Amino acid sequence: MRRKMAAGNWKMNGLLADLVQLDRIAATCPAPDADLLICLPASLIHPASQQVRHSAMMIGAQDCHWNAAGAHTGDISAVQLADAGAAAVILGHSERRADHQEDGATVRAKAQAAQASGLIAVICVGETLAERDAGATLDVIGAQLDASVPDSATADSVVIAYEPVWAIGTGRIATTDQIAEVHAFLRARLIDRFSPQTGGAIRLLYGGSVKPDNAAQIFAVPEVDGALVGGASLTADDFCPIVAAL
Ligand code: G3H
Repeated sequence: MRRKMAAGNWKMNGLLADLVQLDRIAATCPAPDADLLICLPASLIHPASQQVRHSAMMIGAQDCHWNAAGAHTGDISAVQLADAGAAAVILGHSERRADHQEDGATVRAKAQAAQASGLIAVICVGETLAERDAGATLDVIGAQLDASVPDSATADSVVIAYEPVWAIGTGRIATTDQIAEVHAFLRARLIDRFSPQTGGAIRLLYGGSVKPDNAAQIFAVPEVDGALVGGASLTADDFCPIVAAL
């Protein structure tokens, strides 16, 4: 039985004053049977982790370097994120793959660093619209998964998020059949690579225009263990109905 997860990704949004939303989420949608994770810009991680320390909510980051320390101007390490109070980090988001040319080997190295620091790595995979239209969806996702997930992955240290690039921030959502096909594929591939125990226990999230009005139908899809939510994670008013639908 996999524990459900509702993960928010604030992306490059949010100031200190916006952390009040975390109190509202903790107060109005506690989820004793699920993991609540909000992944914040690096500037907010320490104050947020202090703010929610008496709740079960986890605070996460959106990227980390693969080294623990060193001459990497502008980067932040998994060691530093854990020190700031992070419990998880999103890795290989399509926006990072596109904006920062991150490939599978880079994401894998970052995931190993995250694991070494005790952070949950939320590893993202997803196809572009051109790749889907070309019938290459499963090939693309399979290659991303194989390259990005480290051999050391465990169900406690790794979560996979399927995020079709064309559904992110567009309001266009994958159909339940499309989600079911990809999640079944991911599950089978993880079981084949690891074991029925490990591959069967790694959580699979869907991400891409998840909103209060479509969350329940997405969560009813087999092998969907929760969501990675962008825009609708910025306020408790939007995020709490999604948590409630888990
Ligand atoms: O990480 C989150 C995803 O990119 C989804 O973003 O919910 O705004 O479409 P969105």
